[in-house]
Amino acid sequence: MATTFDVARVRGSYPALADGHAYLDGAAGTQVPGSVIDAIAAAYRAGIGNIGGAFAASERSDAIVAEARRAVADLTGGAASGVVFGPSMTALTYRMSAALARGWAPGDEIVVSRLDHDANIRPWIQAAARAGAVVRWAEADLATGELPAAQYAELVGDRTRLVAVTAASNVLGTRPDVAAIAAVAHAAGALCYVDGVHATPHIPVDVSALGAD
Ligand SMILES: Cc1ncc(COP(=O)(O)O)c(C=O)c1O
Repeated sequence: MATTFDVARVRGSYPALADGHAYLDGAAGTQVPGSVIDAIAAAYRAGIGNIGGAFAASERSDAIVAEARRAVADLTGGAASGVVFGPSMTALTYRMSAALARGWAPGDEIVVSRLDHDANIRPWIQAAARAGAVVRWAEADLATGELPAAQYAELVGDRTRLVAVTAASNVLGTRPDVAAIAAVAHAAGALCYVDGVHATPHIPVDVSALGAD
């Protein structure tokens, strides 16, 4: 079923778009609607504090974080308890790669892709270098901009610990078959780390359906 969308109403809810500009790379500087601006202002007006404290401002902060986790889980699927906030996707991926690579041994392998944003490549390559792990590359089809999933059968093996892949290219908009790629990774006992930065604002996302770890 086609979804109809009142573009003028949605645009109108973003004060920053009032000057007529269109921001074609949303991930590179996301504008927010008035409801978000109001919620942030209301939190500061009410007073917020360090989380986990026994005072009212702290309890307000705890409630905001819990509600935000529920909202993200509603947007992306998965459990609210699995939602982690951080300064940026790049910073979170550096932390995740540093944590996971502690379990990698020399000769283990990871798979990254040429379609991915640097944020889902460099943290993994640097972590692999520190661990002595081998980096294998999935190639994009330059004629179509697609990332053929079939190649993962060759790229993934017994030593594969992690497959990092994007749910959508921020350059081309093409969408790899993440579910198929994740299935290959899981069959080998590897994790699948999916970059949803570009996909999530454009399509309904369900991390379980994608097979994203
Ligand atoms: C697909 C994709 N992944 C990751 C990033 C990096 O996101 P961040 O700026 O939050 O580190 C971007 C930024 O444009 C992106 O487009």
